[in-house]
Amino acid sequence: MYSKKLKEAELGFTYDDFLLVPNASYTEAKDVDTKAKVSRNFELNIPIISSAMDTVTESDMAIALAQEGGLGVIHRNMTLEQQVKEVKKVKMSGDLTIKDVVTITPNSSISTVKTIMEEEEVSGLPVIKDEKLVGIISKRDIKPFLNNNSDKKVEDIMTSDVVTIEEPITPSEALELAYENKVERLPVIRDGKLAGIVTIRDILNHKKYPNAARDKNGNFLVAAAAGPFDLERAMALDEAGADIIAVDCAHAHNMNVVKFAKTMKENLDADLIMGNIATSEAAEDLIAQGIDGLKVGIGPGSMCTTRIIAGVGVPQLSAISSVADVASDYGVPVIADGGLRYSGDIAKALGAGADLVMLGNLLAGTYESPGDVVVMNGRKYKQYRGMGSMGAMTGGFGGGADRYFQEIKGPMKHSKLVPEGVEGAVPYKGTVNEVVFQLVGGLKASMGYCGAKDIKSMQEVAKFVRITSSGIKESHPHDLLITNESPNYPTLD
Ligand code: XMP
Repeated sequence: MYSKKLKEAELGFTYDDFLLVPNASYTEAKDVDTKAKVSRNFELNIPIISSAMDTVTESDMAIALAQEGGLGVIHRNMTLEQQVKEVKKVKMSGDLTIKDVVTITPNSSISTVKTIMEEEEVSGLPVIKDEKLVGIISKRDIKPFLNNNSDKKVEDIMTSDVVTIEEPITPSEALELAYENKVERLPVIRDGKLAGIVTIRDILNHKKYPNAARDKNGNFLVAAAAGPFDLERAMALDEAGADIIAVDCAHAHNMNVVKFAKTMKENLDADLIMGNIATSEAAEDLIAQGIDGLKVGIGPGSMCTTRIIAGVGVPQLSAISSVADVASDYGVPVIADGGLRYSGDIAKALGAGADLVMLGNLLAGTYESPGDVVVMNGRKYKQYRGMGSMGAMTGGFGGGADRYFQEIKGPMKHSKLVPEGVEGAVPYKGTVNEVVFQLVGGLKASMGYCGAKDIKSMQEVAKFVRITSSGIKESHPHDLLITNESPNYPTLD
């Protein structure tokens, strides 16, 4: 009986065990569409999201990724208040409309206008009477009256014929309207009342990122991590504006986690992504709770030791395909989380059924990842550590520990924890923009070889060939000394 268990065990495969086979193709890399569904209700423009890790994703990373068309998942190794702040920072940074507008009344004096403008560092104020917009006054309007003790009121010199724009607004419409009327700012009106203000500078900034991942109001998309039973945190993040809550757990097929997923889902307006899992049975059980996305990966991560410490895991390409077999029937997106080392691995993950990938290592060490650059042996590095590492579980807010069903209590806290990750450093990689350019470029090249015009067709047409250790050796550069490091093929560990 026992020997049968071993004899009948399936073979598990990962990225290096396969290559994609080139297909007859009419698709060129420059023409492929990389849009990817990340959850039932949200679509990204590139299939890349960042890991909810304290050395990978805070607001800077989430903003940089959203600008590129991807998504950041704000980690939870911080207080709830800090995490809420990080979510709000992302939401506000991509906002086209300034909502916290300082206003003035028609009978105010010019000196009051001047004081408010200086204090609030603004150059124009909407004028409000009985909750209605009746004018707008700018620095230029008050300038002639500043030095002559004028007793003029706002209503005497304001522009009453205000050019406004109705919500919802698009950047192009707003820009056209502002240029046509030669104004620098447009009050935004909702239901007859002032809802905000939009300036030419903000519109131009907005247009700088045409591929950005945005919600229906034009703000950047952002996700935030919560523990598997931390409903309070999940609800607060939802309230703060997170579009997606990513429940972050080492074993989401724990049946208490599965059961609680339903309660989470019922209490959230945001979409709910659950993980991590590695089997089709786990996918069935979680999808039955109504969740909106699945995260796959038990132990493939570059700093994970789960497979060594617990002896548990499924090689990542096999895990992705098993989960995708089930999830694709229900239209639930599959996120391949961890273990990706090159852009070719993203292509292989999609070919095996994933909708998008979650990256830790490949985005750690960028300018936008948390932490400082350190120089070791003449090369720049940034810290990268597992959320199940001793440092992450005991440092920060202990947000790593409950991911592994562990509690931190008492003075002996270090010796009572069993880490499932290590702490280290990764080479400094430059900006997220540079890294993403290479990753998406490599993916597009792959889709061209495979003849896939978009991610759905990549999932359908990608064919694999199994390779041996000689095959992988042949695949990497060999028999030469690399003299110039390539931006998409790092040679130093
Ligand atoms: P990469 O390979 O991109 O993997 O660095 C990132 C993913 O690894 C997971 N993660 C962990 N897994 N122990 C683990 O077994 C850990 O300490 C740990 N920390 C993060 C996580 O899913 C992440 O997205």
